[in-house]
Formats: sequence, C-alpha cells, structure tokens
Amino acid sequence: MPAASSPGPIAIIGAGAVGTTLARSLTANGQRIEAVVSRDEEEAQDLADRVGAPVAGATAAVLPPSIRFVLICVPDDAIAGVAEALSRRDHPWEKTVAAHTSGARRAAVLTPLDQRGAATMSFHPVQTFTPETPPEALEGIAVGLEGEDRAIAAGTALAEALGARPVRLTAGEKARVHCAAALASNGLVALLSVVEEVFGASEANLSQGAGTDLVAPLVEHTWANLKEGSPEEALTGPVRRGDVGTVQAHLDALDDETPHLVPFYTALSTEMVRVAVRGGHLSREQAEALLAVLRTAATASEEAAGGAR
Ligand SMILES: NC(=O)c1ccc[n+]([C@@H]2O[C@H](COP(=O)([O-])OP(=O)(O)OC[C@H]3O[C@@H](n4cnc5c(N)ncnc54)[C@H](OP(=O)(O)O)[C@@H]3O)[C@@H](O)[C@H]2O)c1
Repeated sequence: MPAASSPGPIAIIGAGAVGTTLARSLTANGQRIEAVVSRDEEEAQDLADRVGAPVAGATAAVLPPSIRFVLICVPDDAIAGVAEALSRRDHPWEKTVAAHTSGARRAAVLTPLDQRGAATMSFHPVQTFTPETPPEALEGIAVGLEGEDRAIAAGTALAEALGARPVRLTAGEKARVHCAAALASNGLVALLSVVEEVFGASEANLSQGAGTDLVAPLVEHTWANLKEGSPEEALTGPVRRGDVGTVQAHLDALDDETPHLVPFYTALSTEMVRVAVRGGHLSREQAEALLAVLRTAATASEEAAGGAR
C-alpha cells in the first residue's frame, strides 16, 4: 500500500549507491517503486528484484506511463544526458515530477524535462552513501530541495516519507551547502588519511590502520563534545592554550618527514586560532604570536616547494 503522502509510482534511474539506498528506504516506508533503469541491465534488474519493482531496463524506453516521480540518481555529469534521453520519451510529463539527487547541480540541468511539462527539482540527501548503506541512514537527515514549487511539494512529501527533514534551498545556495557537506564528510576522510600518514612517518612501528585505531577514541570523544556544544567550547589543545612552542614542534616534526603536509597544518591551525579567539581563549598577543609562527612556516614551505619545481 502506498503511503498517504505518496507522490505516485516512482522510477529510479541509476542503480548505484544513492539509487539503491533510496529505493530500499522508499519501499521500506510504503512507497511503490514501479521501475528501475540503469546503464547495466543486470544491475537494474537486481535492484528491481530487491525492491519488488515490476519493470527494469537499461534505457528510458522501459519507463511505464504510470510513473509520476522520476528520481535520477546517476553521476553528476550524466544527469543532463539522462534528462535529454527521458525527454524524448512519449510520457505524461505534465503529470510527472523529475528530480536528480546531486548536491552540486541545480534543477536547471533537467531543462529538457521542464520543457516537456515535468515539474523539476534537485533532491539532495545530505548523507554519504555506498551500495551497502542501510535504508535507516536516511532517517533524520536533511534533504536539500531546490526547484519548482509543484516539484518541491512532492519532494517534501517524499523526504518526509523517508523520515528525513526537507530543507528548501535556492539555486544560488546549492554550491555553498554542498561545499559544507563535502567538507564535513570527505574533508573528515582526508583529515584522517593525513593523521594516518603522520603516524606512518613516525618510528613508533605503527602498521597500516593502527594510527586510525589509536585516534578513534579521541575522534569519538571530540565528536561527542561537538554534539553537546559549539566548536569554541569543544576546541582543546596547544592552539587554544596559546602554546607557540608546541605548535613550532609540530611544524618541525612535519617538516622532517612529511613537509608536503606543512601547508595543511598551517591552514587548519589558522582556523583553530580563529575558533580560539571567538571562544575568548586567546589574548590578541597570543593569537598574533601563533599566527606569526604559522605564517613563517607556510611561507618557508611555499618557497621550498617553489625551489623544488
Ligand atoms: N554517494 C554519495 O555519498 C552521494 C550523496 C548525495 C548525493 N549523491 C549524488 O547522487 C548521484 C548518484 O551518485 P552515486 O554515488 O549513487 O553514484 P554511483 O554509485 O556511481 O551510481 C550511479 C549509477 O548510475 C548509473 N548510470 C551512470 N550513467 C548512467 C546513464 N547514462 N543512464 C543510466 N544509469 C547510469 C551507474 O551505472 P554504472 O554502474 O554502469 O556506471 C550507477 O548504477 C550523483 O548526482 C551524486 O552527486 C551522492
């Protein structure tokens, strides 16, 4: 039985990480997936079987006329081509909502469908997905919605059916919001990869992955503090204390074995100074002393990199 707020039969285009999780979650929440279309017919069929969708195929030609919500979950660069191919189909587009799930691209990338009368939008679930992501990963997350009012109404119902929180965005806001989300998720991955690299360069005989294990309790407790309070409250460490000598020792250690990480450290520590100043933890003199050390190291690193070129 479709849920009361159902936008009607749904087609998922792209049986990858997002398409799979959305299809599973929508089905678990009483929505009907009528068709799965993906470049690889076998993958489309696999997902269709998993969610009980009666139609599967590799092209838009299989799209049943009953579809009222097309959810395009293909890589960003493929969205325009998929929209173009769909728009060539004879379909009651004026009764259909077409959405893509990209955080970076705007609804306007679906213009060929808009021109056929579809209501178009971007429907961006702010979460990180792999094909194994469980459907519950959508519960409580924000879904960025941007596009036409008629589409937003359907997208709001769909997000709510997933247990997610719809957040309306303007087209102009999308890149900034996506940048923040990418920093939170992908930036954290890059940060922990740097942590691993710094550990790996030490003589502490840490095998691969051991560095991440070692800092896991630190990361988890920091995250718990951040959930309880602001960054200004959660920040601890040498920058908050104004320990210039310790910051210099970090820079020297990095310069020894991993000099390419000095600019990363100086950029991140400069942000820590800003947080510490906002939190009232540093005097102007302390902040200036820290920034001077960081600037000197950044300039030296830049000059060394220039010399190496
Ligand atoms: N992953 C995330 O964490 C995440 C989070 C939020 C939003 N998004 C957005 O969601 C969208 C999908 O991302 P994803 O991570 O799910 O990508 P993905 O795992 O690479 O899956 C994309 C799927 O689309 C299929 N596909 C590619 N080109 C196609 C075409 N022309 N026609 C039909 N199917 C096609 C792919 O088939 P093949 O396997 O044959 O290539 C694959 O099944 C992107 O816009 C992305 O920005 C991703």
